[in-house]
Parts: sequence; C-alpha cells; structure tokens
Amino acid sequence: MKVAEELTLDSMASLIDCCGSTTSLTIETLTDYLTKLEIDEDWLLAQLPNPMPKTGYHRTLIHQAKCFEIVLATWPVGGGTLVHDHGSLNSQGVVRVLKGSLYNQMYELQEDGTVTRGERHVAGEGALVPVTRDMVHAMGHAGENDGYAASLHVYFPWIVEVRYWDPQTGLPVVAPT
Ligand SMILES: [Fe+2]
Repeated sequence: MKVAEELTLDSMASLIDCCGSTTSLTIETLTDYLTKLEIDEDWLLAQLPNPMPKTGYHRTLIHQAKCFEIVLATWPVGGGTLVHDHGSLNSQGVVRVLKGSLYNQMYELQEDGTVTRGERHVAGEGALVPVTRDMVHAMGHAGENDGYAASLHVYFPWIVEVRYWDPQTGLPVVAPT
C-alpha cells in the first residue's frame, strides 16, 4: 500500500489497523508512519491534562484498537516514569517526541531478575525512539526546556502487566497503585 506523505492521527490509526495483527506490524513501519504524522499544535493543547501533574507524567489514551494503542504522555519538568518493562505480552512500539526533550535511561535485565543501569540518551523534539521487545527503561523530561514535554506512544499489542524495578537497588518492586 502506498502511504501518503503526511498522515493524520486517524489515517495513521487506519493504516496500523490494516496490518490486521501484531505480527505484520514492525517498528520500521511504525517509525515511517510516525515520521509522516502531522500533529496540530491546537490538537496537542486541547489534549493536555489540567492541571498538569507536578511529578511523574500523565497518560492520555488517544486510540485503542484490537492490536495496538496510541497514548499521549505529558511530562512536567522533573517528571518521569519508574523503571519498567512493557508487560507480559512483550509489547513493542515507537515514541515520537512532540514537544521538549526526553531522556531515555536504559537498564539491562539480569538472570537473577534484577536490573543494572545502562546507557542514557536524550531525544529532542521530533525524535523517534524505538521501544523494542524485552526493553527495560525509564523515560522522563530531560530538563532542557522550562515547560512541559509531550510525546506520542504507539504500542502493539497493548501493554499489560508491567513490571517495575527500583533504580537504586535494581530489585523488582510491586506495581504502584
Ligand atoms: Fe516504556
């Protein structure tokens, strides 16, 4: 199928749906779609949580279909995720940074179930960050701009039963409520 040069959220969701199953969608294809996705500034402003969280981050479910989900994450200065994997279904996906910049701190899962700190990258506005199967990481506002940061996340399949780790000890921790 020929893909248009520019995509809207709806047309991108339709294209992903056309894949029909999680087995025919790849990170490469998704990266291509997200590169071509046009995000309207007004749309983004309309999606922002009010009030903006002071810590952590906020998830807004934009689209959920049979085999994938699209989530908007908004990050206050100093905000970020816990150390996590992408669930029992080994979900994968791509993150596009819409505003500001995000750090991506990688961790390596050890045989004993603990994690050790790996590389840290910063993804600037417009960057596309692949989330591969079995990836353990923490993301957050990189502190390079004063305002909030925002990113669009597409995961396939949905993320369920996420595991978390303590970044200091590397030990697994119980899921936050
Ligand atoms: Fe993640």
